[in-house]
Amino acid sequence: RSSSVKSQQVKQVLVPRRGYGSESVPERKVAILGAAGGIGQPLALLMKLNPLVSNLALYDIANTPGVAADVSHINTRSQVAGYMSEEQLGQALEGSDIVIIPAGVPRKPGMTRDDLFNINAGIVKSLSAAIAKYCPNAIVNMISNPVNSTVPIAAEIFKKAGTFNEKKLFGVTTLDVVRAKTFYSGKAEVPVEEVNVPVVGGHAGITILPLFSQATPKANLRDEDIKYLTKRTQDGGTEVVEAKAGKGSATLSMAYAGAIFADACLKGLNGVPDVVECSFVQSSVTELPFFASKVRLGKEGVEEVLGLGPLSEFEKEGLELLKPELKASIEKGIKFANES
Ligand code: NAI
Repeated sequence: RSSSVKSQQVKQVLVPRRGYGSESVPERKVAILGAAGGIGQPLALLMKLNPLVSNLALYDIANTPGVAADVSHINTRSQVAGYMSEEQLGQALEGSDIVIIPAGVPRKPGMTRDDLFNINAGIVKSLSAAIAKYCPNAIVNMISNPVNSTVPIAAEIFKKAGTFNEKKLFGVTTLDVVRAKTFYSGKAEVPVEEVNVPVVGGHAGITILPLFSQATPKANLRDEDIKYLTKRTQDGGTEVVEAKAGKGSATLSMAYAGAIFADACLKGLNGVPDVVECSFVQSSVTELPFFASKVRLGKEGVEEVLGLGPLSEFEKEGLELLKPELKASIEKGIKFANES
């Protein structure tokens, strides 16, 4: 029995050259787990548009054949296949260079990301075990919340399987950066496409610490503006959850952010120099074992975890405030992975 849907496209090895000189673009397989969901569908679309992808595997426990058939008709490079049910998970994962995980339940109004823990922790655990079995060398982009705990869960499962590579496990915090850039550009009245803002810490509430003191282009914002922007970035997810009024959390902006991050990982794998994105990774930047900061991406995943740079007094305070919460979320993940 197979509900796998393969497109009839002929495999293209050579695609338009984008900054690769005379070299061809290598074959790269990307798998999306949770591909039929609110994030999964637009993310599948955006990855189908990425010329660096040669194979796109779409896996979900429901509805993947339709999504895969639909996306596969788009006339871009990648071959698309849909996989449904656990017995096809191995096939979906085999040979993957990058596995993106937006599987799980999203928040409803009044919920914190941690309220998702009980359901999503189990999903992430079983998907991580499958990754360890079928594509232990793949780069993992973890979107499922609470990221502050799901990344440590995946790390523990990989350690148990003997496949853990700290350079290849990423919590996707790009949406925090996307939001910080948008909100900063509005306040500072600078062109949004020129804006850069590092966001460090974790991915929930006060653990999200945007470093507006390092934002470029520079703007002389008042302290109260910085406070407002910080809070709005930290509460960006809740803003969307409330606006959707029970119909889920950010999906479209998250798919965009997920596509940006996966593209950065692909560029790193392909040897493009100086690819830097913020991500929640194993880290020695602080005393916490996992922390989000700027990361240089390379052929093996993390090439270098960059430091925090100079912080304002407000940011230093925020950093100390977030540590206990982030530490507890990390420990909760580790405990779950080892107990259940
Ligand atoms: P959704 O409910 O629309 O989609 C989730 C999909 O996962 C569904 O299609 C479901 O069938 C699938 N799924 C459930 N169990 C699965 C399993 N064992 N294997 C494969 N697929 C499975 O949810 P949505 O809105 O797409 O959100 C997904 C996750 O992303 C949530 O945990 C949410 O909190 C998180 N998220 C993370 C963000 C971030 O910045 N990292 C931002 C927004 C959401």
